[in-house]
Amino acid sequence: MINKALMNVILKDTRAFYDREIKDVELVNQGYYGLIFLVSFDDAFSCVAKVYKGFGHAKNEYEHLGLLLGKGLFHSPKPYYLSLKEKNDYKDILYMEYIHEAEPVELAALEQCNKDEMAKRIVDNIFCYQQNFKVEQGNWGCVYNDFVHDLYNRLLLRDDNELKEVANKYLAFTKESVFNTNEVLLHGDYNTLNLLVDKNGELHMIDPLGFTYGDKFIDIAQLLKKTCLEDSIIKILKKKDILDDKGLTLVAIYQFWDEIYHYLRTNRIDSELIKRIKF
Ligand SMILES: Nc1ncnc2c1ncn2[C@@H]1O[C@H](COP(=O)(O)OP(=O)(O)OP(=O)(O)O)[C@@H](O)[C@H]1O
Ligand SMILES: [Mg+2]
Repeated sequence: MINKALMNVILKDTRAFYDREIKDVELVNQGYYGLIFLVSFDDAFSCVAKVYKGFGHAKNEYEHLGLLLGKGLFHSPKPYYLSLKEKNDYKDILYMEYIHEAEPVELAALEQCNKDEMAKRIVDNIFCYQQNFKVEQGNWGCVYNDFVHDLYNRLLLRDDNELKEVANKYLAFTKESVFNTNEVLLHGDYNTLNLLVDKNGELHMIDPLGFTYGDKFIDIAQLLKKTCLEDSIIKILKKKDILDDKGLTLVAIYQFWDEIYHYLRTNRIDSELIKRIKF
């Protein structure tokens, strides 16, 4: 049962961007950061209303989806409308295209040959959208090190001493290893839960997050964090000479700080990952 306050906001918002009667609003999924509602109308049109639990991310996702649109080999949902709490007095809500009958690649039952093929498509897609560069190249080394310092300072306020010790080492490690580099278009949360496969086998990338432009290894690190396709992806990246020692170091650094970023937002941590990349 959808609550009345939310229903009122959805009615008002959809009138603003699609002046039709709503047939149904249904909660179809729940992530860490948002509730995903499917809004259907009297004609065949439907859309997703992503209702954010926290603030500030809806606008980023709206803009980031706009940047990715048409840039990759995979489809990404068209962002339709942004409704912010400051105006609707309820929650930040992003309306976007609904991807029909699709499930996350991570949950799809794949045989080994399909895994290799899927991994190849997923890596090819990265190289496609990453051909887009930031117009004015910035200062990636500084930007990333500043981002890490901020995370580190916030982590210091927490109780977990063991994690703080690992973070302390990673802080030095980051300073030694992350320098200016070509800043390419990123997805930012490119993992196999955010890649959907539909019933025709088409792939879609949803839920971009974090950096919009930056080091290409950001998305590679994200992809390798936890995936049923790990072996196939590593095989492909090694063949392309991308995962040399320098690449592997950057992957560990980006994975570590990404985990801290999520830990500070959700209080959840993947202890297995931290153990695996602890050095
Ligand atoms: N545009 C969409 N079309 C179809 N399904 C979607 C769409 N957006 C989200 N979903 C479904 O809802 C699930 C959660 O969405 P999403 O990944 O955006 O949530 P989140 O809360 O931001 O993040 P997290 O994945 O970190 O929990 C997705 O795995 C997908 O199954
Ligand atoms: Mg997601």
